Amino acid sequence: MESMSILLLGATGAMGQAAARFLAAEDVPFTLAGRDREKLSRLRAKLGKGETAVVALEDEQALRQAMRNHRVVAGAAGPFYRWEGYLGRLALEEGVHYISICDDYDGAQALLDLHEEARAKGLTLITGMGWTPGLTNLAALLGAQELDHVRAIHAAWAGSAEDDSGLAVTLHVLHAFAGKVPSYRGGQLVQVQAGKGPYWVDFPSPLGPVPTYECGHPEPITLSRSFPGVEEVTLRGAITQKLPNAIGRLLGRFSFLHGAKVRPKVAALSMRLLPLLNRLTPAPTSLSGFWVRVEGMKEGKPWQVTRRALGPMDVLTGFPLAVGAADLSQGKVGIPGAYPPEAPGLFMPADIFQRLEAFAVKVERLEGPLTG
Ligand SMILES: NC(=O)c1ccc[n+]([C@@H]2O[C@H](COP(=O)([O-])OP(=O)(O)OC[C@H]3O[C@@H](n4cnc5c(N)ncnc54)[C@H](OP(=O)(O)O)[C@@H]3O)[C@@H](O)[C@H]2O)c1
Repeated sequence: MESMSILLLGATGAMGQAAARFLAAEDVPFTLAGRDREKLSRLRAKLGKGETAVVALEDEQALRQAMRNHRVVAGAAGPFYRWEGYLGRLALEEGVHYISICDDYDGAQALLDLHEEARAKGLTLITGMGWTPGLTNLAALLGAQELDHVRAIHAAWAGSAEDDSGLAVTLHVLHAFAGKVPSYRGGQLVQVQAGKGPYWVDFPSPLGPVPTYECGHPEPITLSRSFPGVEEVTLRGAITQKLPNAIGRLLGRFSFLHGAKVRPKVAALSMRLLPLLNRLTPAPTSLSGFWVRVEGMKEGKPWQVTRRALGPMDVLTGFPLAVGAADLSQGKVGIPGAYPPEAPGLFMPADIFQRLEAFAVKVERLEGPLTG
């Protein structure tokens, strides 16, 4: 195995397969890791390059073995509330850099808690380099750079259940809409009720306005740390098909559905019903989107900068992961410590947004005086 190579965990998943495609295009050596040999072989055959490794995340010894001799571990296996802290720790102990698409607030916090150890070992751990978090964080960074003072960051996602219906992401959605979740208000982290809303957000055409709801994601935790002095960071989301959206929020209310054994059963049942629910309440597009508004002051005036885009969820998610993993493996980014994607000195957001245009993802930028 080449020492520059990337171990892609969850390579057979909906997001992992896209990341694998982009890695193949980046022309960096990589290993596709998953627990199903057949799926791995089919993916390897489709890509025409890469090594494969059959490994279950629960098998710690096998996982450590797989991590060795790689330079970077790229995490696309979820749910991350279960795996992110554990994977970060193993990567640290095996002396490899780590980057993931973790979208769970508790998983992100567990990775950030490894900051001092990562610094001491000279390793870089990056949590949440996907779509949301990921592109949302990069949009916040760009917006913040364009203002003289940042007062608030509002981020939102609209995910299509036609675009991705994997088990891991279904578990994530149930987790995100369950109980109290972190938000940032009045200059401090607070807990808000998941599912509260709606907050209408204007996504690009053809999706248009979508009612979004409070949900549990890493952005309020990481963006509030990255932009000291910010008073408010909110994160709201919605599934674009009405029935899956309503049912996802409803299921979040019942805590007995969220035990470690029960939630996977609820997720499996939801996945079986999804095709029917999607047909009953179709969305205007099968694309998914993000929207980020940074509010503050510019040249003495209250001002806002908004960035928003639509695209296939696997492109929005897999591309940042692949680019980030490739950059890490080639030593282009490498500040030791544990960070979110918006940390200074890691990535060039404008460059990543521009490269996304090759995949028909156009990040729109709107700005103007703050009203109301
Ligand atoms: N940051 C973002 O923007 C973003 C966007 C979308 C999704 N996500 C997150 O990314 C994760 C993946 O989503 P997805 O839609 O790709 O889900 P998915 O289709 O269910 O894929 C999950 C992948 O993880 C693997 N996996 C699961 N448990 C494993 C285990 N115990 N050992 C080894 N491999 C295991 C699966 O392997 P098998 O093929 O063997 O099942 C599969 O390859 C989810 O947690 C989701 O919440 C993040």
